[in-house]
Amino acid sequence: MTAIRKVGVVGCGLMGSGIAQVAATAGFDTVVRDVSQPVLDRGRAGILKSLGRMVDKGTITSAARDASLARLRFVTELADLKDRDIIVEAVTEDLDLKNEIWRELDRTCPPGTLFASNTSSLTIGSMAETTRRADRFVGLHFFNPVPMMPLVEVVRTATTSAESFERAYAFARSLGKEPVAATDSPGFIVNLLLVPFLLDAARARERGTASTPDIDRAMQLGCGHPMGPLSLMDYIGLDTVVRIADIMVDAYGEDRYEAPALLRRMVDAGHHGRKTGKGFYDYSADPPKPVELVSR
Ligand code: CAA
Repeated sequence: MTAIRKVGVVGCGLMGSGIAQVAATAGFDTVVRDVSQPVLDRGRAGILKSLGRMVDKGTITSAARDASLARLRFVTELADLKDRDIIVEAVTEDLDLKNEIWRELDRTCPPGTLFASNTSSLTIGSMAETTRRADRFVGLHFFNPVPMMPLVEVVRTATTSAESFERAYAFARSLGKEPVAATDSPGFIVNLLLVPFLLDAARARERGTASTPDIDRAMQLGCGHPMGPLSLMDYIGLDTVVRIADIMVDAYGEDRYEAPALLRRMVDAGHHGRKTGKGFYDYSADPPKPVELVSR
């Protein structure tokens, strides 16, 4: 099994920057690519902030932070990823966009490069089939915030070779994560179960079952969740939740994956959660304040 030394990450949003951070901190030479310099700058600032928190808490030393940063490179060209041993793609949940990227990487990367998508709701097979390396294609699904959440779902398709799966599984372990094996069905394990729960929480809010903070507090204090479901949706991004729900309702045809009208109205109004400053809560206040719901 060829050792993985050089890591490439495509996409420097919340997930991509988190994956790049974790890879660099684990000692890998890491190159992260996004289309524009401002996106890369934002990603880099997020990594600096996260590493800074770890230094403040004493989880890592400032020398380890500096060494991690020295292992990270930010680029705008996909061609700069051509010498990587593994590519982890973490761009928007848009199959055409992902496949355009994969086709280009398939042309430029050597046969030994393992391809991994961080998709949370599309199938890995729908990407693998557009390349000439369906046997060297896996899913590596990380969770937000990537530096803090221990889980990685490692996904094999019908065509993934045993060696590729083992390489990916070992790679997840070498990042300090806990891998679980999942088969290639939309949502894998976590989102299959989490997404209906989040959508039900939005439906409860829409129906007026309780206030935003009371729904959140109920699940935190009654079930031991670290974050209430409405806060968690703000954290993931309401636009992302709706996109995942749409893909899952197409895949399974079940009402429980249908995003409620309230969520769609919030997304249409530009209330995407933390990243836009407003969702179920207003993040310009400290602590964040519940927001009056967007009406019809
Ligand atoms: N980088 C570094 N450190 C971080 C961090 C980051 N990005 N985020 C939080 N921390 C650290 C804090 O410094 C703090 O450290 P100490 O405990 O040493 O003080 C610790 O984590 C706790 O942070 P906070 O006090 O700010 O807040 P918290 O206790 O609520 O923890 C949390 C934050 C880890 C995010 C926690 O709330 C949590 O686990 N929430 C649930 C997250 C979750 O469910 N994620 C999955 C989302 S689904 C997904 O990602 C999949 C998908 O496809 C949609």
